Amino acid sequence: MQPLRGRRILLGITAGIAAYKAAELARLLIKDGAQVRVVMTPSAGEFIGPLTLQAITGEVVRDSLFDPAHEAAMGHIELARWAELVLVAPATADFLANAAAGAAHDLLTTLCLASTAPLLAAPAMNQAMWRHPATRANAQTLQARGVELLGPDDGEQACGDSGPGRMLEPAAIHARVREFFADGRLTGRRVVLTAGPTREALDPVRFLGNRSSGKMGFAIAEALVAQGADVTLVAGPVALATPAGVRRIDVDSAQDMHAAVFAAVRDADIFIACAAVADYRPATVAAQKLKKGDSETLRVDLVRNPDILSDVAALAQRPFCVGFAAETHDVAAYAEGKLRAKGLDMIAANQVGVSQGFEADDNALLVIWPGGSVALPSQSKRQLASGLVELIVERFDAQTAAEDPR
Ligand code: CTP
Repeated sequence: MQPLRGRRILLGITAGIAAYKAAELARLLIKDGAQVRVVMTPSAGEFIGPLTLQAITGEVVRDSLFDPAHEAAMGHIELARWAELVLVAPATADFLANAAAGAAHDLLTTLCLASTAPLLAAPAMNQAMWRHPATRANAQTLQARGVELLGPDDGEQACGDSGPGRMLEPAAIHARVREFFADGRLTGRRVVLTAGPTREALDPVRFLGNRSSGKMGFAIAEALVAQGADVTLVAGPVALATPAGVRRIDVDSAQDMHAAVFAAVRDADIFIACAAVADYRPATVAAQKLKKGDSETLRVDLVRNPDILSDVAALAQRPFCVGFAAETHDVAAYAEGKLRAKGLDMIAANQVGVSQGFEADDNALLVIWPGGSVALPSQSKRQLASGLVELIVERFDAQTAAEDPR
């Protein structure tokens, strides 16, 4: 059992006496299955050799923002995006000051600014430095921004003083990291999902649309947040409140939705396409309002829209892809066909028709993946969303374990 299997942890080491303990911390994280990349501040190398950490993590240790070889392998912004958790241990008074000020003096502070991943820091310094009002203020600023400070411990210090400032023992930090990832089954995971209808403009005032209310997608976004995920919701035009903790991007047309998804999906672990995307759009959009004149009929030529889900599923480095299928008949057969045709990891199918599906508050889903299926019976969309997210987590975990069989 490896509770941190596949988790991507950026371990920052700053220049404190306790830096030598970072080797033990890295070892404990690796033993639990985590992928650990180490970034040291330039003077941290005075306290622990990068080669030690390289041997433990199996990854090159980085300490410079301006190293062309490392930047070519994985640029610092890529590294910032890669991390699910930034863990700084030990965190010196200087690091806390820089992080609180938003400074980007070196690779580590730059990564802390560039990463959206949560930051845990284990302060380590002389007791007087920890008690100093400047450090107190920096610690409070960081905590107010959501940074979690682990410790420090109280006790004997390397300098002979006694008091608060000792770095927590590696085992205690390791235990907190385990807890952090256990909080929600998707803690640290990034999920992008689409919801609602799209509108395909005919002229400045008219559009082709559909009856999707967005309720199912919004309920899924809420259920994902409840499991600790970092959620980006790309929503077509719907009159629904944004669930707490969700990053929402509003779009209108299928092409807008495609662009918004591709801007967000690059680092996503999971993509869920819940939107009812228009398959076609008017070939031309009239610049001015169309006038009916004397015509009894109107012909509109339509052209195919890009398929957002298929395009995401075709990415070389792709997230776990979940699609939806709304069918009036032969639900299972059509859904299985779409699962295969679009190369998906899972599809959630429902029967739509009179009073079912789009505008209703209740729904039922048949969830299919390669090699299995589950029918989730009719229930509220919120309950259904929780059930679906459970299934996604199970399949996603199984797939991650199969890809990384350490
Ligand atoms: N989808 C998408 N982009 C599109 C069309 C659909 O991302 N341009 C996604 C939907 O969000 C949904 C799934 O693909 O997850 C639906 O598949 P699709 O084959 O488009 O469904 P229908 O339009 O109902 O297909 P058909 O008319 O063939 O039944």
